Amino acid sequence: MTVSKICCIGAGYVGGPTCSVIALQCPHIKVTVVDISAHRIDQWNSEKLPIYEPGLDDIVKKQRNVNLFFSTKIEEAIDEADLIFISVNTPTKTFGVGKGRAADLTYVENCARTIAQVSTSDKIVVEKSTVPVRAAESILKILSANHKPKVKFQVLSNPEFLSEGVAVENLLNADRVLIGHEETADGLLAFKELSNIYLNWIPEKKILRTNTWSSELTKLAANAFLAQRISSINSMSVICEVTGADVSEVAKGIGLDSRIGSKFLQASVGFGGSCFQKDLLNLVYICECLNIPQVAAYWQQVLDMNVYQKSRFSNKIIESLFNTVTGKKITMFGFAFKKDTGDTRESPAIHVAKTLLDEGAQLNIYDPKVEPEQIVKDLTHPYVTDNPEKVIKSIEIHDNPYTASHHTHAIVICTEWDIFMELDYEKIYSNMVKPAFIFDGRKILDHDKLTTIGFQVHTIGKR
Ligand code: NAD
Ligand code: UGA
Repeated sequence: MTVSKICCIGAGYVGGPTCSVIALQCPHIKVTVVDISAHRIDQWNSEKLPIYEPGLDDIVKKQRNVNLFFSTKIEEAIDEADLIFISVNTPTKTFGVGKGRAADLTYVENCARTIAQVSTSDKIVVEKSTVPVRAAESILKILSANHKPKVKFQVLSNPEFLSEGVAVENLLNADRVLIGHEETADGLLAFKELSNIYLNWIPEKKILRTNTWSSELTKLAANAFLAQRISSINSMSVICEVTGADVSEVAKGIGLDSRIGSKFLQASVGFGGSCFQKDLLNLVYICECLNIPQVAAYWQQVLDMNVYQKSRFSNKIIESLFNTVTGKKITMFGFAFKKDTGDTRESPAIHVAKTLLDEGAQLNIYDPKVEPEQIVKDLTHPYVTDNPEKVIKSIEIHDNPYTASHHTHAIVICTEWDIFMELDYEKIYSNMVKPAFIFDGRKILDHDKLTTIGFQVHTIGKR
């Protein structure tokens, strides 16, 4: 078999960009991205894509309806494909056994059942979603128990390592492409088919071949290690605030050691995003199921440190504003979980907003890419409030940072958008209630300059 048709199930933050780049780099392959959400597919077929990702619009516009298709005809796309990516969501379970920790594999399982039911020819099924170790075994069992006569399946693990905001860059110049396969001749053949696709633009030395379980675990391990670095530097930020050391200087000092390296040492209000927390919880749960509570506790601490950091920052705002924010207007600059994305999943901004709203503050919120409806949805979610009407009355969403800071007591930087470094803070200061405060949760502003203007500046990891 030489792969000429690919189907990707799940048109989300991973499926959409990944398949757009495959279509760009493999003009000889027809790539069809399918989803159960007709709305999402309509957005992929429209002028305004469902996700903001630098560089993505151009690729989609170039390939769409050439060799890249977005469709709701899931069964048709599966049956005609030689290779199928499963790229659906694997959120934390909200019910039943493992609630709040285990990964919910319902969507993955549904994909496996549909593939088994509709396939009339052999398929390579690729796990792209992040899953617990040995999930491929369950997928293969479902496929094997339900397939049509003479149809054969191979299951590969090919986790995705892209970061939002730089997804296109990451996909075009991946540090590595990891492919895990069954240790059989057919497994090796399937590996070769998938690696041939990547070889259209990824150098061979960057394609890493492992067994299936190593590949699945590597994805969880990579996210755990990245999150651990952030929690480690955030733990240092607490010591800095008490002792007078400066966490930026500490990060620089340790990052210059080539064994440690300088990336992912930016102390912050805490990490967010759809995956670090979910994947760490999943890892902790796996360790508990394997009866290794010592390892579970080790990784749980990375999450606990993150909760502590978010709470510390939120509480600092209240303490600095004379221990009360009731009735005070506070500006939030940024709502996305990081810059260059409109994604708000697990954004630390939600935690900060919740704490301030619980204390009776009025919030003016500005983010360059997050849709106002998304902010309202996040802040009226039952996890945040049991009184959504009150929240709606307590927030104003602005499309301009200057109006957002008008007559407010404080600005809280929750996302490190570049635009926040370029604003006219003298103008902003002149229109704020005095004393005017800035809480820089991302350490991106020139604090000396802001202090000279007259701001009371508070940040992370510096007294
Ligand atoms: P997402 O929620 O943005 O997209 C998932 C899509 O799958 C949704 O549009 C949903 O409607 C669709 N879907 C669910 N069940 C379906 C079914 N049976 N048939 C068709 N469509 C179905 O999720 P995402 O952020 O793209 O993440 C997908 C997976 O990739 C997760 O396992 C995640 O952990 C992993 N991952 C995500 C990122 C990231 O940056 N977001 C990076 C690496 C890995
Ligand atoms: C992360 C990983 O970086 C990707 O490799 C992985 O594929 C992805 O998760 C996933 O599995 O979903 P992403 O969540 O998109 O990617 O973004 P990151 O750049 O990792 O940032 C995550 C959070 O950590 C953000 O809130 C960011 O602001 C924060 N962060 C990051 C810090 O606070 N300090 C840092 O030094 C780096």
